[in-house]
Amino acid sequence: MATRSAVRSSLVAVSVLLMTILNLSVQNNVQPVTPVAEIGSSSFTFNCTVNRTDLTANDTVWKHYSEELPQKWYKIVDATLIQLVIPNITESSRGIYECRSRLDNRHLIGGEILEVGYPPDQPTFERCLSDNLGPFTCWWNRGRDPILKTTYNLTYTFNDGTG
Ligand SMILES: *[C@@H]1O[C@H](CO)[C@@H](O)[C@H](O)[C@H]1NC(C)=O
Ligand SMILES: *[C@@H]1O[C@H](CO)[C@@H](O)[C@H](O)[C@H]1NC(C)=O
Ligand SMILES: *[C@@H]1O[C@H](CO)[C@@H](O)[C@H](O)[C@H]1NC(C)=O
Ligand SMILES: *[C@@H]1O[C@H](CO)[C@@H](O)[C@H](O)[C@H]1NC(C)=O
Ligand SMILES: *[C@@H]1O[C@H](CO)[C@@H](O)[C@H](O)[C@H]1NC(C)=O
Repeated sequence: MATRSAVRSSLVAVSVLLMTILNLSVQNNVQPVTPVAEIGSSSFTFNCTVNRTDLTANDTVWKHYSEELPQKWYKIVDATLIQLVIPNITESSRGIYECRSRLDNRHLIGGEILEVGYPPDQPTFERCLSDNLGPFTCWWNRGRDPILKTTYNLTYTFNDGTG
């Protein structure tokens, strides 16, 4: 008989091949990498490091896909660091964010893809069906859809009837 000893879940952010998508030949200047924000949180902050002699943080713009984001979301920390503070995280906050030069034809400085979702609920175990020691199938209720790709680890122990 298969019995449940523990059901655990972990959050796995979807990994993205950003270097290919954004065609960044050198280092990416946007932090954090593989960002994930919780829906309902009041803000999410990106950093863009401007590492060019001909450009300062004040000469940059932030874009979400093709939309140029409002200046009131920008925070110029110093000449080399500009932050983007995205307010009120919702499902539509996800996607490509890019830091671009205001001067030379919106030249790309860096970018990242923001994923949004909910932390997974503790799943509630329902049942397992096993054909003796053969393969078995289990069911559980994950609760609210976390939206993000989520891995549920199921641990089981066998009771061989001698104990
Ligand atoms: C962004 O910059 C601030 C100020 O330097 C720093 O405290 C923070 O850790 C940075 N965040 C990331 C994700 O690098
Ligand atoms: C700018 O980037 C180059 C190449 O990655 C690095 O060698 C240099 O130290 C950086 N300069 C600053 C001021 O961060
Ligand atoms: C950035 O540039 C604008 C004009 O383009 C100016 O009004 C503003 O004071 C500058 N900010 C900083 C921190 O240099
Ligand atoms: C974010 O939410 C707060 C509180 O609900 C609201 O006052 C504010 O206007 C919102 N900001 C934006 C940019 O939507
Ligand atoms: C779940 O299993 C995966 C794959 O074996 C492993 O990478 C991960 O660390 C496990 N997570 C937990 C919370 O045990």
